[in-house]
Amino acid sequence: MVSAFKRSLSVGRRSLTSPRFSSAVSHHRKWWSSASPSDLALIFALASAFFLSGLYIFHTYSASAAIDVVEVGEPSIDADPVEIGSCDLFDGSWTSSNRRRPIYNGSECPFVERGFDCVGNGRRDTDYLSYTWKPRRCEVPPFEARAVLQRLRGKRVTFVGDSMGRTQWESLVCMLMAGVGDKSTVREIYGNSITKTIRFLGVKFGSVDLRVDFYRSVFLVRQGRSPRHGPRRVKSTLRLDQMDEISGNWADSDVIVFNSGHWWTPGKLFDASEISFSDRGCYFQVGGALKLGMPIPAAFREALDTWASWVERTINFNRTRVFFRSFEPSHWSDVDQKGCEVTRHPMPEPKGNIHTELSDVISEVVGKMRAPVTLLNVTLMGAFRGDAHIGTWSYPPSVLDCSHWCLPGVPDSWNELIFSYLLMNGS
Ligand SMILES: *[C@@H]1O[C@H](CO)[C@@H](O)[C@H](O)[C@H]1NC(C)=O
Ligand SMILES: *[C@@H]1O[C@H](CO)[C@@H](O)[C@H](O)[C@H]1NC(C)=O
Ligand SMILES: *[C@@H]1O[C@H](CO)[C@@H](O)[C@H](O)[C@H]1NC(C)=O
Repeated sequence: MVSAFKRSLSVGRRSLTSPRFSSAVSHHRKWWSSASPSDLALIFALASAFFLSGLYIFHTYSASAAIDVVEVGEPSIDADPVEIGSCDLFDGSWTSSNRRRPIYNGSECPFVERGFDCVGNGRRDTDYLSYTWKPRRCEVPPFEARAVLQRLRGKRVTFVGDSMGRTQWESLVCMLMAGVGDKSTVREIYGNSITKTIRFLGVKFGSVDLRVDFYRSVFLVRQGRSPRHGPRRVKSTLRLDQMDEISGNWADSDVIVFNSGHWWTPGKLFDASEISFSDRGCYFQVGGALKLGMPIPAAFREALDTWASWVERTINFNRTRVFFRSFEPSHWSDVDQKGCEVTRHPMPEPKGNIHTELSDVISEVVGKMRAPVTLLNVTLMGAFRGDAHIGTWSYPPSVLDCSHWCLPGVPDSWNELIFSYLLMNGS
């Protein structure tokens, strides 16, 4: 069993080198793809997860090759790499038929913030909880919390971004807690509580010495005071050429998941029209110069370029696996974000802002990076899920929300996809 597992993993290494599936191209072993001797004790637990994963990943294109690995014991190289490469994890549909959902109870996990606990806030229809993402040409390995926890022993996973990043952080912590016997060994290290504006949250899983951190950095770049003698409407500026001042805390991680995009809107930057952001007046700055007329997509590109060169300068890719997650479509029924009707089931066709100028910027900037950054394009996935938003099951209940997702829910599938990269996609 052990050797079969290892062989199947090595087939995985050889096969999954398509540009889509594997951008982390280097020629030595990484923690996320190696089975060190200390892992041997875990092989039984892991073997089922990994090996099943292997079967899952391969079965559509080469079920027979996967079986060869078991029976003949020779790594099969018959699988057509072109065909394997054609499995785009993000091209697929939602299904309620194949796997265990939900992974955790949102009301029992202390890291689901009140506003995301839809069931706890009164949602009664529960079909939306049962969906998993099914890529068209392959399967996502099921998330085995215990096995993933062992794999992450001594590691640090960091999320950096906006409230969607926080949701994903909450989701991962709760998914992992499902595999922890003594829940009191999992705690937020600074005693911080989850709020919308909290800059840092860090959860430690004591039993495996794992940290899962969240840094709120909605723009990734630095936000500062307006320069002296600027126009009065300029209350603050985004320094497009400088990283967020808390970025020094990020690089020392084994996995980092970035996101940005939702805050790059006129309402969240400049306008005085949205009540909650009434004193925004935030304009762009490069070096000492205010850029009052700069279009948002151009500013976003400049900021992401700053981020990309920071990543290439700062991250040790021998250790750290870097992801950038694309933004989420929302399902408001009007432009004012006053109407929001949550459906009972996923929609048959994707709806919402899937392709925007900002998505082009993301794919261009990430696409031309020399460093192996994996783009998690979850935008289309979300576009089907008009049923999975918070709607009226929010907190405080007066807030209507067709942007964020209920937990458990859609972000659990993002994390499952990340772990299918980490576990399957060594180099
Ligand atoms: C989730 O947890 C809450 C609080 O402990 C409990 O009342 C509820 O029955 C649980 N839901 C499920 C589906 O187990
Ligand atoms: C990463 O690994 C390669 C190959 O083992 C080595 O040459 C390089 O110096 C390493 N880089 C860092 C930053 O450790
Ligand atoms: C994500 O995929 C959609 C198509 O499904 C595409 O329109 C969009 O541009 C992509 N976004 C990014 C950031 O690449």
